[in-house]
Amino acid sequence: MTHSMVKLNHVVKVFDDVDHDQNHAAVNDISLEVREGEFLTILGPSGCGKTTTLRMIAGFEKCTSGKVYIDEEDVSSKAPYERKVNTVFQNYALFPHMNVFDNIAFGLALKKVSTKEIEEKVSQMLKVVQLEGMEKRMPDQLSGGQKQRVAIARAIINNPKVLLLDEPLGALDQKLRKQMQVELKHLQQQLGITFVFVTHDQEEALTMSNRICVMNNGKIEQFGTPDEIYERPATRFVADFIGETNLFEGQVKGQVDGKLSVSVNDGQEVLMKGIGLKADDNICFAVRPERLKLKTAPDSSDSFVRAKYKERIYIGSTIRTVVTLKNGKEICVSEPAGDLFNVSKVEGELFVTWDPTNAVVISA
Ligand SMILES: Nc1ncnc2c1ncn2[C@@H]1O[C@H](COP(=O)(O)OP(=O)(O)OP(=O)(O)O)[C@@H](O)[C@H]1O
Ligand SMILES: [Mg+2]
Repeated sequence: MTHSMVKLNHVVKVFDDVDHDQNHAAVNDISLEVREGEFLTILGPSGCGKTTTLRMIAGFEKCTSGKVYIDEEDVSSKAPYERKVNTVFQNYALFPHMNVFDNIAFGLALKKVSTKEIEEKVSQMLKVVQLEGMEKRMPDQLSGGQKQRVAIARAIINNPKVLLLDEPLGALDQKLRKQMQVELKHLQQQLGITFVFVTHDQEEALTMSNRICVMNNGKIEQFGTPDEIYERPATRFVADFIGETNLFEGQVKGQVDGKLSVSVNDGQEVLMKGIGLKADDNICFAVRPERLKLKTAPDSSDSFVRAKYKERIYIGSTIRTVVTLKNGKEICVSEPAGDLFNVSKVEGELFVTWDPTNAVVISA
């Protein structure tokens, strides 16, 4: 059994009546487990309860009900400083009147550690976050990425079992953000600290995490590896929120030659695979743009819909083609620039095809 580092057991947070909506829970019955050394990301749209969840783990917020365990110990009624966690906030929260060295040393100085040990540890941290030689700088003499690294150094110098990070890269420009994602991930692997990382950026979550907890409206929609979340979204929300996808609505008509016949939005019949589905079930299925192919005629093993060409958008190495169904619904097809389907050959109708195993049935 892997060691559980953070565990939430039916955690609920209801804030006191702010609006008239008295029963609204910011976090609504969340249970999850983070393993030792794991990089877990809590991902979801603004207001879904990510920060509140993190604050309950850190102890800045008390759970309305449910329990929080850290390192297999029930810490639900313990104060933040009694928990083996450290937090990195979005706005760095460096002490503006202290230089880099003193900012990083702050936690150790409070603990009355010897000057020699402080110097050793701070220089070790400066090396880890690659800020050697900058110890005399003041926070306002640092770039956003450098401040972020000081904040991280300050949070890890005490060797916390768990590091909580709330959108730590939110304020950085795209390039620096990508760079810091890689650095943070390396740092985490190198130090073996368990990370609980909050973001609303799905790409960031997919690239950095061992597992992702997708939240919406105070609840967990799906908890799984990046691969599972991307390839097998469990709910419509996840399919829509993570990456780009094409969602089809339909109703099961019956079986044809061992395949399921589904009538989709615009009245067309699609043959697909479907386990455990029966006639009259209303379903929704998702197919990723990169799993779709445009053809003049479908192959016998393909699932397909007829569509009309609308437009083509060049985005470098891939090219997106937008086609429409009879009811106007747009379908997006993404192809590598090399094997581009020649739409100019197609007068009017063309076929959007996919391998039946690439359709993910979401709700039955
Ligand atoms: N102190 C508070 N008092 C009342 N309501 C609060 C408080 N803090 C948060 N909320 C509400 O709880 C819900 C969840 O907020 P939370 O800050 O956890 O969201 P979030 O997922 O971190 O969003 P964002 O991505 O915008 O940071 C929101 O509806 C918010 O308005
Ligand atoms: Mg937040």
